[in-house]
Amino acid sequence: MRILVTGGAGYIGTHTVLQLLTEGHDVQVIDNLCNSEREGLRRVEELAGRSVALHTDDLLKPDSLERIFASWDPEAVIHFAGLKAVGQSVAEPLKYYQNNVAGTLNLLDVMERHDVRILVFSSSATVYGDATHQPIAEDQRLSATNPYGRTKLHVERMLDDLAASDPRWAIAKLRYFNPVGAHASGRIGEDPQGVPNNLLPVIAQVAVGHRERVKVFGGDYPTPDGTGVRDFIHVVDLSSGHLAALDYLVDNGGLHAWNLGTGQGSSVLEVIESFSRIADRDIPYEIVERRTGDVAVSYADPTAARREIGWKSERGLEQMVADTWNWQSQNPIGYKPEQCPAIEDE
Ligand code: NAD
Ligand code: WQD
Repeated sequence: MRILVTGGAGYIGTHTVLQLLTEGHDVQVIDNLCNSEREGLRRVEELAGRSVALHTDDLLKPDSLERIFASWDPEAVIHFAGLKAVGQSVAEPLKYYQNNVAGTLNLLDVMERHDVRILVFSSSATVYGDATHQPIAEDQRLSATNPYGRTKLHVERMLDDLAASDPRWAIAKLRYFNPVGAHASGRIGEDPQGVPNNLLPVIAQVAVGHRERVKVFGGDYPTPDGTGVRDFIHVVDLSSGHLAALDYLVDNGGLHAWNLGTGQGSSVLEVIESFSRIADRDIPYEIVERRTGDVAVSYADPTAARREIGWKSERGLEQMVADTWNWQSQNPIGYKPEQCPAIEDE
């Protein structure tokens, strides 16, 4: 198939583009590179032995989208492009609504006009807010605790309305839990700009000596060791979920929400201990105040994806940590070409 991947130069996008190319699909990417480097896709091409056209363009520019659709005529879209930093979304909500909601609106508009109605959308477990039941199934009540989460909810609603308006739309809302890890080659991985927000990149930067210690946000949660519990999922498994969802949509159509998680929770301290063992080094940490907006526990009920699209995660926590370490130790400053000064702890 001809598949347009928005945000395909980013963390999850590069891993998915690689799988799409390996499976024989034709892929083009639109990415404004606001949170990624061209080098990621260059390495994807190297790993796949095939090329991928990158349009360095913005979803906020309808003319650019129009040009791509008019010249290439994609059959389906996988839509990763978006901003994802929760803290920044609190400080700059309009930027998030503009980019994530208005950007998606532009995309849906051009898709409809060009009769392209197969869409896989990157939603997030953040749409479950502070869920009352664990594990979390897709039919739990949706809510959001921050502007980023609300942008995902708004887009989900928009997709619901669109699907209700015209049964020709085939849409998958994939709700990711906590994506981590990297491709087994260590050539592509997560390359956060500035201070990372997520746990694994922070631990990896401590392990590689760029950061002094991990600040563990809260040691008094009602969990076995007092630290937060999350459903970490290997990015390669997550990417496979997109291919499975796409296959399903092509054959069956319809509007669907599927959790992509392992169904297993791991605590922050378990992850630090696992990293320390695998990297064979001390990972200093200190327990500090809880981070505002964090929930104690979040893990998926992934049975719907297994039952309906035949997808399940294959890789466990050890593999996620080993692949994160392999990527980080091979690329201590990510994709950046030149040596940067060590990042200081704030
Ligand atoms: P990422 O930042 O690495 O990738 C997103 C890509 O989109 C980047 O390359 C960025 O340059 C591009 N982009 C952003 N706005 C754009 C615009 N207006 N026009 C064109 N390109 C634009 O993030 P990721 O971790 O790969 O996440 C991909 C998607 O998955 C996002 O929508 C994110 O909200 C969602 N998601 C991520 C996580 C996670 O923890 N990584 C969890 C749940 C959901
Ligand atoms: C995991 C655990 C922290 C950093 C976020 C978004 C969510 C989704 C995935 C996009 C928590 C603890 C973290 C640190 C720590 N993204 N932690 N010290 O918060 O579960 O989810 O990313 O959709 O929307 O909210 O992930 O990796 O930030 O945190 O102790 O320096 O690690 O408190 O318990 P989170 P995370």
